Amino acid sequence: MNLDLDYTHLMAPNIGPNGLSAESLTRQGAARERAVDGLLARATGDLGFLALPETDAHDTAVADLLDGLSPRPEALLVLGIGGSSLGPRALTEALGPDRKSAALGAVFYVDNADPMALQRTLAPLDPATTLVNVISKSGATVETLATHEKVLAWLEGAPGDVAERLVYTTDPVQGFLRERAAQSAIKTLPIPSNVGGRYSVFSSVGLLAARFAGLDGDALLRGARRALEDVRSQRGESLAARCASLHHLLTVERGLPMTVWMPYADALSTVGDWFVQLWAESLGKRDVLAPTPLRAGGATDQHSQLQLWMEGPKDKHIWFLEVGSLGDDEPMRVSDRTCPTTGHLDGKTLTELLHAERRATALALAQVGVPNATLHMPRIDEDSLGHLLMTLQLQTALAGQLWEVDAFDQPGVEAGKRFIHGLMGRSDHADERTALEAAEAGMTPFKHS
Ligand code: PA5
Repeated sequence: MNLDLDYTHLMAPNIGPNGLSAESLTRQGAARERAVDGLLARATGDLGFLALPETDAHDTAVADLLDGLSPRPEALLVLGIGGSSLGPRALTEALGPDRKSAALGAVFYVDNADPMALQRTLAPLDPATTLVNVISKSGATVETLATHEKVLAWLEGAPGDVAERLVYTTDPVQGFLRERAAQSAIKTLPIPSNVGGRYSVFSSVGLLAARFAGLDGDALLRGARRALEDVRSQRGESLAARCASLHHLLTVERGLPMTVWMPYADALSTVGDWFVQLWAESLGKRDVLAPTPLRAGGATDQHSQLQLWMEGPKDKHIWFLEVGSLGDDEPMRVSDRTCPTTGHLDGKTLTELLHAERRATALALAQVGVPNATLHMPRIDEDSLGHLLMTLQLQTALAGQLWEVDAFDQPGVEAGKRFIHGLMGRSDHADERTALEAAEAGMTPFKHS
């Protein structure tokens, strides 16, 4: 099932001067075509994420690894950060925990060097029956390596071979985790060298947690493939290209520097976190004006952020995501049908209420000239989720082409990593430490206590 986009409320005839004209969209057609050409030309080269939906190699490797575990672990603990955590979390938090599947396993995440969060995550887990998946493409990210050391000590508290309860997902040939796995006979899964962290959800990075939680990996990849086929066949008129183009025009032509991603489904909340990281790390380059992504949740944030969007600065465009069917949803039975406050709810479902909330919010924003669009997703299943995540990756990659930035590197993040290594005393990063301390020493302190 496909995604549909309704962008009625992005258009100037409907919302006034903050909206777009049909002509500007048409005018950008040639740029969209060039963006698609530029992207697809790299499909067999450095952009490995474009090939991931078309191979079952990673899914098969993951299934084989899980089949080989005896006894089957009761829980999976994923250690990773950024692109090495948000993809699997988006999948399992959308579809994992509450599904009644024989294959169901609970998946837990540690993505920060926060000792309290680590302690709380480990508290309900048994080190004897937990499989720990350490994910790091570089094998050098200090937060992941530090929590890995803590978790090794925790695993050692249970009898048995610690190596049996570990899987490293990392670069296929190099890095600390790859070397350590070889020395200690730890199972590994590869992240292809041409796949970057935030574009890795359809590799073993996302698929191990997905399979462990009982998700259908084939259906995820099938949905992702449809998004790819859409770009190949519809090119500049595909959904991903259209969304990239709308973002570009709203930001560059209309000068709106923020984009809000707002699903009306709690299960898609982490997809919002995943998208914010994907968009921010891909497009935040060279001082170009790509919109800062913000995340909200419907209907909850109607009682929080909406006030600002309605009456604060008109500097945003809002992207709603509405899901057609949200699981078993029996109509309400209101105790007093004559009650003027609640009687009208009798016979209606919570899904109907949520849809009305989205529609009312979209119209209210349109009336005050705030551009907004709605993606409709039929339901939350593997196929639709695969389609959504691949569409968003393609949209981001195409936006990179339109903004003329490299959507696949992250020099700012890498600089931050080097500074942390320096401050924590890594011998090969002494220069970074010296530079940071010199900069700090040159500053005039301002403090209040
Ligand atoms: O998307 C990215 O490239 C980053 O967010 C990385 O995933 C993140 O910095 C973690 O890096 P690594 O997988 O090397 O530990």
